[in-house]
Amino acid sequence: MSTPHIDAAPGAFAQLVLLPGDPLRARHIARTMLTGAVEVTNVRNMLGFTGEWKGKRVSVMGSGIGVPSAMLYATELIRDHGVRQLVRVGTCGAIAEEVRLGDLVLALGASTDSSVNRLRFSGYDFAATASWRLLSRVATAALPGGPAIRVGRVFTSDFFYHPDPGLRDLLRRFGFLALDMETAGLYGLAAELGAEALSVMTVSDHLVGDLHMSADQRETGVDLMVRLVLDSLLG
Ligand code: HPA
Repeated sequence: MSTPHIDAAPGAFAQLVLLPGDPLRARHIARTMLTGAVEVTNVRNMLGFTGEWKGKRVSVMGSGIGVPSAMLYATELIRDHGVRQLVRVGTCGAIAEEVRLGDLVLALGASTDSSVNRLRFSGYDFAATASWRLLSRVATAALPGGPAIRVGRVFTSDFFYHPDPGLRDLLRRFGFLALDMETAGLYGLAAELGAEALSVMTVSDHLVGDLHMSADQRETGVDLMVRLVLDSLLG
């Protein structure tokens, strides 16, 4: 089935797709964690793969950065490629003081400065929330000695370099855990198209104190997170 941004054979995708932002991360996950992984699409180098985790079929595909990019792939995956569950496996920037680099943030709900959910929801405020079925499974699969799991609200922004200098304080006052650039769009889209969605994110940056993971720390943190997600949803 060929769609504008995904050129894949019918049935090439599993019902569950993991979405890292970076297509090379998708390839890394496919090569190092999945059994029998095959590349199923590569339009504009946005690589997608299908393989198995402990005998169960799963796909992984890059989403690009930001709501518009992630949503166009997610739309085609759900609408045309038979996908039922989308799990973003990415990184986020922490806002809350108590959150640490390397913690995992599970986005229970997402506010946003993007207008996509208002546009799709007739101008009303949409509560962009995770699939409880997916979230509860990942949240309870945490390993002793593994990264802390934080479940709460995140803010999805169209800006990485935000023009509002007061935004971080506002988000802190309202108890937000972290910032990302995709979750609210993904949750709104999944609701509209009747699919399930969840964002699981490694804290790669801390916006209080300006702390950042090295490239190696990021890779290790994201790998750990992806294994946890695969085990909790398919183990
Ligand atoms: N802001 C938004 N998204 C992010 C960040 C950030 O600082 N770090 C990782 N994803």
